[in-house]
Amino acid sequence: MKICSVVGARPQFVKAFPVSEALGGHDRVLVHTGQHYDRELSDVFFEELPIPEPDENLGVGSGTHATQTAEMIEKLAGVVTRESPDVLLVYGDTNSTLAGALVGAKRDVQVVHVEAGLRSYNRAMPEETNRVLTDHCSDLLFAPSERAVETLAGEGITEGVHEVGDVTYDALLAVRDRAREHSRVLDRLGHEDGEYVVATVHRAANTENEDRLAAIVEGLADAPQPVVLPVHPRTRAALTATGRIADLPDSLHFVDPVGYLDFVRLLDGAERVATDSGGVQKEAFYLDTPCVTMREETEWVETVEAGWNVLVGADADAIRRNLDRRFAVSEKPQPYGDGNAAGRIARTLERAVGTAPVEDAV
Ligand code: UD1
Ligand code: UDP
Repeated sequence: MKICSVVGARPQFVKAFPVSEALGGHDRVLVHTGQHYDRELSDVFFEELPIPEPDENLGVGSGTHATQTAEMIEKLAGVVTRESPDVLLVYGDTNSTLAGALVGAKRDVQVVHVEAGLRSYNRAMPEETNRVLTDHCSDLLFAPSERAVETLAGEGITEGVHEVGDVTYDALLAVRDRAREHSRVLDRLGHEDGEYVVATVHRAANTENEDRLAAIVEGLADAPQPVVLPVHPRTRAALTATGRIADLPDSLHFVDPVGYLDFVRLLDGAERVATDSGGVQKEAFYLDTPCVTMREETEWVETVEAGWNVLVGADADAIRRNLDRRFAVSEKPQPYGDGNAAGRIARTLERAVGTAPVEDAV
């Protein structure tokens, strides 16, 4: 079985880490589309985590959705022609995901989607289009939860669907203790456990809308504790363009994006998380850190139902109030598996593609 995996954006490097470990021994080609290219959004993950170096970097970079996706499709098609993989494996919901799924679907290559069946039901979100289309082009769909399986069934997709759990839970469990022992990020940034909020903002709906971004900054600036904000370049650019970056209060501690281990350490030690990220909502849940989500909806509804996450939109007052309140958390459910999603993915792939498990193959 020859597997071509496509990654391109920060969360996909994290997801590829446990999956590529579980697939070790198979013939693999790792393609980096180049969607993310800054060191802190890309190289740092390959340096810290045992992900193989990409065999190809398509160097696509930033652009409009149209140009970025089109260039990925064209270049990926070339890789598929050269490599003739049996499987094209994609992760999550970015433009790199959709490009990979479309290329695979048009060729005699099985498309495998890791993190299938997630929906926000907000079609204005570019990721929602990417998820829906990717799921509908996929031959094998690895769902992180029972609800994701049901969602796919509701859309008529029942074949090739496997509930395996969330690969980001695998990734987090693999580094959590190492991050606790070895990360020096709190000393470096001058913060102490339990005495800060960590925040991330990068969603298009929040960065492209000046009023929403202003409300988020206002809500975070009034948080009951200092806020550490490892800032995505997109958000830094938006704040710079409006001149807002020049007069941020001292309680908002803007830093460059940090590596995965440092970020896990920051999440682990934080009193609260405020974010519009998908991955960060789940990681906060896994680390027992209450989360304030600066969006109107989430794909990770189980975290809200369990009382560990609250949706507040881009409302300054709601952000401030929710960062200051107690969270009435129920006993912690485990909706996203047991941390062995990657192993299940590998075994299922081996069965589906008709290859003996790696242990038996020699
Ligand atoms: C992308 C994904 C999003 C994911 C996020 C993870 C899509 C549509 N969006 O959003 O789902 O949550 O990655 O972080 O695929 N930029 C840099 N340096 C980089 C990369 C980007 O400066 O290395 C800046 C550029 O100005 C670029 C902007 O960020 O135009 C947006 O980058 P892009 O990859 O298009 O989207 P993200 O917001 O990163
Ligand atoms: N992350 C990181 N450093 C940071 C911010 C986030 O390593 O400064 C990690 C985080 O732990 C998670 C992933 O990046 O695994 C989430 O990426 P992002 O929020 O950009 O994308 P999303 O999950 O929303 O698609």
